[in-house]
Amino acid sequence: MAAIATERAFEVLVASNRGPVSYAVREDGSLDAHRGGGGLVSGLSAIGPEIQPLWVCAALSDGDREAVRRTVSEPGVRMLDIDAHVHFDAYNGIANSVLWFLHHMLYQTPLEPVFDAEFRRQWGAYESYNRAFAEALAAQAAEGAAVLVQDYHLALTPGMLRELRPDLRIGHFSHTPWAPPEYFRMLPDDIAEQLVRGMLGADRLGFLTWRWASTFMKCAEGVADDVRAVFPPGGEGRSLLEHGAGAGHTEGGLRRETDISVYGLGADADFLRRRAHEPDVADRMAVLREQVGPGRKAIVRVDRTELSKNIVRGLLAYRTLLEEHPEWRGHVVHLAFAYPSRQDLAVYRDYTAEVQRLADEINAVFGTPDWTPVVLHVKDDFARSLAAYRMADVALVNPVRDGMNLVAKEIPVVSDDGCALVLSREAGAYEELHEDALPVNPYDVTATADALHRALTMPAGERAERTKRLAAGATAMGPRKWFLAQLEALRAG
Ligand code: G6P
Repeated sequence: MAAIATERAFEVLVASNRGPVSYAVREDGSLDAHRGGGGLVSGLSAIGPEIQPLWVCAALSDGDREAVRRTVSEPGVRMLDIDAHVHFDAYNGIANSVLWFLHHMLYQTPLEPVFDAEFRRQWGAYESYNRAFAEALAAQAAEGAAVLVQDYHLALTPGMLRELRPDLRIGHFSHTPWAPPEYFRMLPDDIAEQLVRGMLGADRLGFLTWRWASTFMKCAEGVADDVRAVFPPGGEGRSLLEHGAGAGHTEGGLRRETDISVYGLGADADFLRRRAHEPDVADRMAVLREQVGPGRKAIVRVDRTELSKNIVRGLLAYRTLLEEHPEWRGHVVHLAFAYPSRQDLAVYRDYTAEVQRLADEINAVFGTPDWTPVVLHVKDDFARSLAAYRMADVALVNPVRDGMNLVAKEIPVVSDDGCALVLSREAGAYEELHEDALPVNPYDVTATADALHRALTMPAGERAERTKRLAAGATAMGPRKWFLAQLEALRAG
């Protein structure tokens, strides 16, 4: 705790791999800064000046990490100086290739996990990476401060931080699903236990839905004898995990408790509605309208090019629609925005290539001189995404598994004339939106094609009514409320 005396101490700290600003290095060596996307950025930018958190983060977008690190100084942001190899192994090796795959249940032959010496080496980097966060937080937190640690990149940080600073109130939030126990068991036993114990270092753990919260609780109970899940009778009251030597005994003096809560992050209605009516969005709409063509319907999807987003099966479903319902040929266009993601990993590069190949194939088979069935955009452009959101007749959101999926929540909020939502039942958003969406099993291409047809033929009045209700559900817990509710609960003890 000596470090507190020498560095500024904060009352509220946030920790995440990716920070609020990402930087790219321009050709002339100068830095190009972009505000990052996602709920955490929106939540923090909306909390107002009364809380001035310190945001501790590591990742940069692309370009020269060294140059960026030397130059960056954002108020309220501390970018950790993590060795590039350690970051690579922790982020690409463990976080994205193991934990992400596990929680999204993406492993399949021949892409099965191999937990060997190389994995152990990368795990060492993951530990160092988590420790760097714990040390930075410990050094800059005021006595009794609230620390909100984010996501699977930092599962060990709560436990490490508790050892350094038992006085802090520590929360951890998972933005992903959590693997079911029989899938989680694939991890080596000691690693599974380390992960769970790392998270149980927190006073409170947050999840996007009860589905993920309860699978975490079952996994936690499965990894060690001294962890016990307590589900409140009748679903009312506190859900918690007791752990440590007295778990399960009312008198156990060494017992600790970690509260489990759900905060269903929603769309940022004010920001989106304002942003969607700025002139650059109108410009993009004009271009997209031309690409779609007059009188045609638009099926829109917007995703990172991510295996869990199921873009390939989405394209197969669209192809099936054109085969089974030839009446749609020439009358619908699929606007598919698939923005590059995690391109350091071969499996992501291959997936990106497959998306492109399939889009080209559909265009080659069905296209005519005046109709391009699939318009695929791969360059990330938020204004263009919003333009597509506004004009979508149908939104396709079909992940095989997804913590929440904010696209499903954002589209109804900005839609101009109502949009029918085809939604995977494996997305967290399904829990809140299923009544007014058209639910699909994301593996079932035939059923997805049928749902697209039903969405395209939904009467305009019904579509508008459903969109209104979807937007209400999608904005029930905007990012500001989501962040403040967690902070308040953490401080309340
Ligand atoms: C998910 C994760 C986030 C992550 C984002 C983008 O939403 O929960 O933690 O930042 O994907 O992934 P990336 O690897 O580009 O940061």
